[in-house]
Amino acid sequence: MADTGLPPFINLERASISGVSSGSSLYSCGLITCASIRARSDLEIGRETPFFAGIGLKGAVAYDRSPLTAAATAAIQTGDKTMDEQSLNRRQILGGLAIAAGTTTLLGGIGSRGAAAAEAPGAAPAGGSQAPTITSVKDKVAYITGGSSGIGLGIARALHEAGAKVVLGNLDDKQWADALKNFPANDPRVFTIVHDVMDKDGWQRTADAIEKKFGPVDILVNNAGVGLQQAASTGTLKDWEWGMGVNFFGPVYGINTFVPRMQKRGTGAQIVTTTSTSGILPQSGAGIYSVSKIAAVGLMETLRAELAATNIGTTCFVPGQTTTNIGQSETHRPETLKNDAAAAPARPAGAGGPARAAAPRPAPAAPPSPYWARPQDPLVVGRVVVDGILNNDLFVVLQPEWRPGVESRANALLESMVPVLPMPESMAGGGDRYLRTPIFAQEVAHRKATRKRTIAGI
Ligand SMILES: NC(=O)c1ccc[n+]([C@@H]2O[C@H](COP(=O)([O-])OP(=O)(O)OC[C@H]3O[C@@H](n4cnc5c(N)ncnc54)[C@H](O)[C@@H]3O)[C@@H](O)[C@H]2O)c1
Repeated sequence: MADTGLPPFINLERASISGVSSGSSLYSCGLITCASIRARSDLEIGRETPFFAGIGLKGAVAYDRSPLTAAATAAIQTGDKTMDEQSLNRRQILGGLAIAAGTTTLLGGIGSRGAAAAEAPGAAPAGGSQAPTITSVKDKVAYITGGSSGIGLGIARALHEAGAKVVLGNLDDKQWADALKNFPANDPRVFTIVHDVMDKDGWQRTADAIEKKFGPVDILVNNAGVGLQQAASTGTLKDWEWGMGVNFFGPVYGINTFVPRMQKRGTGAQIVTTTSTSGILPQSGAGIYSVSKIAAVGLMETLRAELAATNIGTTCFVPGQTTTNIGQSETHRPETLKNDAAAAPARPAGAGGPARAAAPRPAPAAPPSPYWARPQDPLVVGRVVVDGILNNDLFVVLQPEWRPGVESRANALLESMVPVLPMPESMAGGGDRYLRTPIFAQEVAHRKATRKRTIAGI
């Protein structure tokens, strides 16, 4: 088989074997890439060539042997001739999953612009995304862990400027003086509390103390985090315990503490967790950190699916490079989890990514380098989070420059799906069953419908 530059199943030789009428003009072409099909959109496509239901997708051949509808045929024949080859291929791979899942939405997607085909599985999401649970933060009570520095402080300031009562948590009281300079003196809407998020018993005590001061928490922001630099391959168990303890189990304890309280109260609430671009694309050079953030992203996705029918909203906040004190994270490491000097692992060669200096992240010098091209001011970042809360956004992602990386990771997964031929009836007719959850399709629709946002500083 000649190399088409496409995965084996993106290949009409396979497709023709699987289901194409030998009388078809395409069959005689043998090997035709998606691109050449696009170029030959005048090709005769008839009812006897059902494989066209998923051009380039073996699944369409094997899974969906039903004849094309006239509309579908027309959609293919009038395909988007200006679509670039790469995106066409990608859309067909992704869109093909819709066919495998028994949907017909791909057919419209083949000829459409944007990422329509890639989103085909969700073209008809079961219901809309979960409605916003909080329409104004005024007088709402927000608890922000790690709220006295960096992004947490930025979120606290943004919530406060929008009228919320804010509780800043931190593992000790060392940052209060500086943090409180950002609020009016003795402001009755600001409260500080010492709370180590790794202390699981401390969570209930903290919740009780906040309730006593301000009333029940409406908005929980699981933000405390440590940017430990240890690689997954060489990090010690103490590194793992600390990294997962703060960055993952912190949010777990928070959810475990506050979800029952929020459910019992039933008035509408929001849970935000600050994750990271490392949580959507690993290999930042800090392996344990990445794993902890990937886990936190999964936690928030799972929470959204589980709580979608309640009035507890969820937002997975995904910031990237921001001007904060994260470079000083090691100073927050508990004595019991410090590595012996001899055991401290060296950063492995090729770990990738810049090592973070043990100093605060500097504000970018003007003109900013592309590295710092996104909003870096924690207050601006905080305003984006408030906007995400008010819209009950599932994801708030501040770093669009990571799109190629995220796409390539998703594509690697898609390309790695082992073809099953023939596709068993029960799988082929599975429909939305293989979407597992509608939350992602719903989020795409929600984002498209609410694309226009006005956020100060953005
Ligand atoms: N700064 C960035 O570029 C960046 C990028 C992506 C994600 N993040 C994430 O943003 C969040 C906030 O980090 P930041 O950049 O503002 O750093 P930061 O160091 O300025 O703030 C982190 C806060 O968490 C607190 N903290 C640490 N361990 C704690 C514990 N056990 N219990 C309670 N509080 C604890 C720290 O004292 C500090 O107040 C973290 O989850 C971090 O992983 C930061």
